[in-house]
Amino acid sequence: MFSIYVLTVVTFLLSWYLLRGSKRPKNFPPGPPGIPIFGNALQLGKYNFKVALALKPKYGDILGVKMGSNWTVFLNNPEDIREAFNKPEYTGRTGFNPLMDMTCEELNSGIIFSYGQKWVDHRRFTLRTLRDFGFAKRTSEERYEYDDPEMTVLMKIFNDFFDSAMDGIRPFYFLFPFLLQIKKPISVLFPEKSDKFRQKLFEFLRKIIDDHRKTMQVGQPRDYIDSMLEESTKTDDLKEIDMLTSLLDFFVAGTETTSTTLLWSCFLLGQHQDIQEKLANEILTTVVNREVTLSDRPSLPYVEATTLEIMRVSSIAPFGTPHATTQDVTYKGFNFPKGTSIIPNIYACLKDADLWGDPDVFRPDRFLSPDGKTVVRNKAWIPFGVGKRSCLGESLARDEIFLFLTNLIQNIRVSMPDDEPPHSLDGLFTGGTLQPEAHRIIINIRN
Ligand code: HEM
Repeated sequence: MFSIYVLTVVTFLLSWYLLRGSKRPKNFPPGPPGIPIFGNALQLGKYNFKVALALKPKYGDILGVKMGSNWTVFLNNPEDIREAFNKPEYTGRTGFNPLMDMTCEELNSGIIFSYGQKWVDHRRFTLRTLRDFGFAKRTSEERYEYDDPEMTVLMKIFNDFFDSAMDGIRPFYFLFPFLLQIKKPISVLFPEKSDKFRQKLFEFLRKIIDDHRKTMQVGQPRDYIDSMLEESTKTDDLKEIDMLTSLLDFFVAGTETTSTTLLWSCFLLGQHQDIQEKLANEILTTVVNREVTLSDRPSLPYVEATTLEIMRVSSIAPFGTPHATTQDVTYKGFNFPKGTSIIPNIYACLKDADLWGDPDVFRPDRFLSPDGKTVVRNKAWIPFGVGKRSCLGESLARDEIFLFLTNLIQNIRVSMPDDEPPHSLDGLFTGGTLQPEAHRIIINIRN
């Protein structure tokens, strides 16, 4: 009898919690009706960025929906994202992102998922420090050989960590972000693999921080970690957990993204031999008998245009990292109450037929002047996001992609077997990035 009472009370409290705030906020942007508890989450599903684009003719550029317990706005065009995201009141974070608890052992730590003054200070400090050192300067690199045993172990943990992105209870955090507030007791009942892998990665990073602590000299920082250690003596907002999370954030934001772009590059060039040969021709005639370096970039407009097109078609971070309003906001007559998730629909910007004409065609020429000599930018090209929280690693990522792609194509030819079935350019969403469909490629060394 007692257990029935307890069950009734628990059910009542849970229903009250889940249904409270289910009334559409006043002047909220239009969107399809939802269902209790789930709102529009099931309707929008895993490919919500695509559905939001498909709903555009009916509801317009600004879509208002409820994802589980979270009122959410999709901004589906580049002008709105640019205008809103340049304002500080759009720089908050909510738990909407199911990956948040993967890197954050504590809410509001690190850089990607922190918010408020803590994020402002840490982003400013990080930008300054990385600029001082230069992202690619030798002093700021930890160098490892390809078969270094420590690196091999690290990469294994990392792969496991990414593979566990949608494991266990995480999809529930996506629907009901408030559960993240009580994650500690929940994970006692439902232990998650990703927590274990994160702890292992933290152990690895903790050792690196400790080594730095032992060998650093005050006033003479050698790299980002030394600088963080120095900064941590001046503020309470940079504890060890923030340093660990920031380093993991850089790993997470900086490795999968770049490698996925290269995967897409081989996938697209393998299917478009004509474009690959044009690319190879430009590289081989401009850079003779040596490696391609960053200083060659201005002389390689077709490479630049092809890279822009690869990043447009692949749209690897289709909704970036959801933002949240830090206060009640009115935008174009709509109200976004404090705490509303604001999704920059990067996928919509890169794939909208109204903006690109033929978005499903891989066509680097769209980024070139008619004489093929000048790169022509398009304001809808925003794979790195825009505004105050845009990608911190954009210039590093673009340098890396340029160097990898040019030096690869200078030396190899990528193709697909004759019996490889045709592939869609849509991509498969892993929860973190959009990946190309599984495919086979053939690699031939160029003479
Ligand atoms: C092809 C490669 C990459 C793409 C497409 C990409 C894309 C993005 C996008 C869309 C965002 C979210 C923007 C927003 O919230 O509005 C972001 C944030 C971020 N990215 Fe990247 N990124 C790439 C590579 C990198 C690299 C190499 C690093 C660092 C080593 C990096 C570090 C970050 C960080 C720290 C943030 C969070 C910024 C903040 O919250 O203030 N990214 N990135």
